[in-house]
Amino acid sequence: MYKTLLSAACVLFFACMVTAITLPATPLTTRIYLGGSFNTLNGTKYNNIAYYDLKESALKAMENGTDGEVKVVNVDVYGNVYIGGAFTQVGTKKTGPVAIWNIYTAAWIDTGLSSSDFVAGSVVTAIDTDCTSLPDSMSISGLFPCDIFVGGNFKASVSGSTATNFLYYHNKNKKWETQTAVNATSVTVVAKNEYQLITYNKVYYGGKFYDANGKEFGLAIYDTTNSPGVWTLVDGATGVTDIYYNPNIFSTDNIFVAATSFAKTECKGVCNYNHKSAAWSADAGSVTTGAVNKIRYIKGLSASNVGSIFAGGNVKRDGTGDYAVIGTNYPKETVLGMDICGLFSQYTITGCKSGSVAVGGQNFLKFYDANANSWKSLLSETGFVVNSIYVKTSSAVTSTVSFALMAVVAIVCFFF
Ligand SMILES: *[C@@H]1O[C@H](CO)[C@@H](O)[C@H](O)[C@H]1NC(C)=O
Ligand SMILES: *[C@@H]1O[C@H](CO)[C@@H](O)[C@H](O)[C@H]1NC(C)=O
Ligand SMILES: *[C@@H]1O[C@H](CO)[C@@H](O)[C@H](O)[C@H]1NC(C)=O
Repeated sequence: MYKTLLSAACVLFFACMVTAITLPATPLTTRIYLGGSFNTLNGTKYNNIAYYDLKESALKAMENGTDGEVKVVNVDVYGNVYIGGAFTQVGTKKTGPVAIWNIYTAAWIDTGLSSSDFVAGSVVTAIDTDCTSLPDSMSISGLFPCDIFVGGNFKASVSGSTATNFLYYHNKNKKWETQTAVNATSVTVVAKNEYQLITYNKVYYGGKFYDANGKEFGLAIYDTTNSPGVWTLVDGATGVTDIYYNPNIFSTDNIFVAATSFAKTECKGVCNYNHKSAAWSADAGSVTTGAVNKIRYIKGLSASNVGSIFAGGNVKRDGTGDYAVIGTNYPKETVLGMDICGLFSQYTITGCKSGSVAVGGQNFLKFYDANANSWKSLLSETGFVVNSIYVKTSSAVTSTVSFALMAVVAIVCFFF
């Protein structure tokens, strides 16, 4: 078994080397992608989507943006950007409410969906990807070989059937497919961890799900092992605002869930769901005052090596609870979008040190630079809302591949 793993790792190693050599490289930096409701920022028209380049300290446009609000931004391991919202087009492409930006061409691409496939008023609120295949020649200007999971409040006609609130790009079949129907009135988040070795085919969703008796569930799991997939509604949380399925292979089996209420009384604001045992635990501590909108985790950042959890929302920031405040002059505003630099971030290369955090909301976009130990405001104006933030440390495929490679080597070492 271990020998098999090792040889698989070796094959992957050489595949990575070849991929790294043949694919074009993109700049080594950190981008803070922001999606929301805005037109002009700092004198330039961005239209609901943009990124802030940490090394250049400047906002950058993604063509001329969208014709409607962006609700969610997600970036895959390679650096491609996926957005969802209440828009129908990006640039001149009539995409409908989901669009994809190719990292090599720095352009919105044809996704295979178009605005005419969606019922008017369709909104996408959650996206995650699973890119376990290596990029191929198609990837250089089009879709990468990734599964794409989309949730929201929409109806779309795909592959001859109607997708209601959920749809996914099934890379194996190279097409958009519907998922088994489930009663969900809202979807706040979807989380798929591509590094997860055990419960590999499970996709985690937060939102409002109902069973046949009308009982509400905040968390649901879609298992893609069989086709069509199978939903399981998970008891124990309502009003789920975020799920962080830690993409860190050194981590535990815990999924971090932020919600307004949990059945487990020790959990307030946040709770852990163990994806192997299906048990809830209060390992993430508790946020006793206010609502948590976003949760992130890095293992190995703190001196104890246990890890650090980042909670953003309208939580009380007095530093007296389980959760301490980050630095001084921390934002007092309600955090709607938040993301952190990952464990593999290297300050000199990417401009983003582990422990740094980007947050945004109504009329603010702020960044805590762990290297300087200070918060700075990246925009000094009003009239905008940031709904979603995704921090991508280094968009270079070559470096992503080498990080992935490090991860693979680490897995092998771990098993030995
Ligand atoms: C805002 O615009 C000024 C003038 O063009 C530019 O120097 C600055 O870098 C811009 N700020 C951001 C955050 O892009
Ligand atoms: C972007 O530019 C295209 C081509 O000029 C135009 O059709 C589209 O309406 C523009 N979109 C926005 C959001 O301004
Ligand atoms: C979903 O469940 C809710 C709560 O029981 C119910 O009101 C609604 O009619 C259901 N929707 C569908 C499409 O079954």
